[in-house]
Amino acid sequence: MDKVEEAKGQFARLINASPEEIAVLSSVSDCASSVATALDFSGERNQIVTTEMDFPSIGHVWLAQQKRGAQVQFLPSADSVIPLAYYSESVNEQTLITSIPHVSYYNGFKQDVKQIAQIVHKKGSYLFVDAYQSAGSVQIDVKAMDIDFLAAGVQKYMLGIPGIAFLYVRKEVAEKLTPVVTGWFGRVSPFAFDIKQLDFAQAARRFETGTPPMINGYAAAASIGMLNEIGVDRIEAYLQSLSRTAIAYAQEKGLRVMSPLDLSQKAANTAIYIPQASKAEAILKEKGILVSARNDVIRIAPHFYNTEQEVKAAIDALAALGNR
Ligand SMILES: Cc1ncc(COP(=O)(O)O)c(C=O)c1O
Repeated sequence: MDKVEEAKGQFARLINASPEEIAVLSSVSDCASSVATALDFSGERNQIVTTEMDFPSIGHVWLAQQKRGAQVQFLPSADSVIPLAYYSESVNEQTLITSIPHVSYYNGFKQDVKQIAQIVHKKGSYLFVDAYQSAGSVQIDVKAMDIDFLAAGVQKYMLGIPGIAFLYVRKEVAEKLTPVVTGWFGRVSPFAFDIKQLDFAQAARRFETGTPPMINGYAAAASIGMLNEIGVDRIEAYLQSLSRTAIAYAQEKGLRVMSPLDLSQKAANTAIYIPQASKAEAILKEKGILVSARNDVIRIAPHFYNTEQEVKAAIDALAALGNR
């Protein structure tokens, strides 16, 4: 339990929140469901605006709310990005929540969260940010970005293991909401063992459910602690330099880059168009190069311990496949 609290504290530090604004759950899907069930879609304001660049699981959670009265709208992408204008055109007085990925799992497109927050808050919508692909590699400041809800798991750039995820809920927002997905750890006094008392703990802890994932807490406390020690600002700057290399080198080799070419709109992941991506992933694995296939792209997703040579070696191996 102490390690889970330590991990919570490290995650809070990573995103400039306080530990009481963080709930520990088991997956980002759980985080989204927890938030969704705390919202009331029975009134006029029943719209959810989300994007086609979100991870499917998040879209599924929002679609499941249709049964509770929600209307779901998906914003498409245009040339690997979602223009800000799409948000101003679609978010309106009927929008209860806008759900966006900070960084897209598909091509590493990084959104301007602060600007999106401004647009959606002007219309009275909450902002939910899925930071699974950014936390640990891109600086996040939930206060400066004016985020209401943020969810992230640790098995990507936070270098942990699956089974633990964190949900940030802005304090004033948390205290207005009560989730329907709950359990004894969401109570004011879990160890009172009072079966008839459904009260809700202060701040984000009310979003917790059952016994937290303790072993995963050890890994998360260690890995997020290490990232905080190194500093995500330094990591982000280094990964930008690897991005610059990856884009230039892939283009030099005649490969098609599916990530935004503008570094201010791109995180660590460089996506390369490869029609038979799964086959390419397996061939590179044989060579000791670990990349991942997503539909028609191969993602080259380095972290602070990778070198420019390694990124170039992955691109050389893809170019050698001749799948253009
Ligand atoms: C951006 C993003 N969100 C959510 C998920 C899924 O999260 P979970 O399995 O914790 O529900 C992933 C997994 O790859 C992801 O990349």
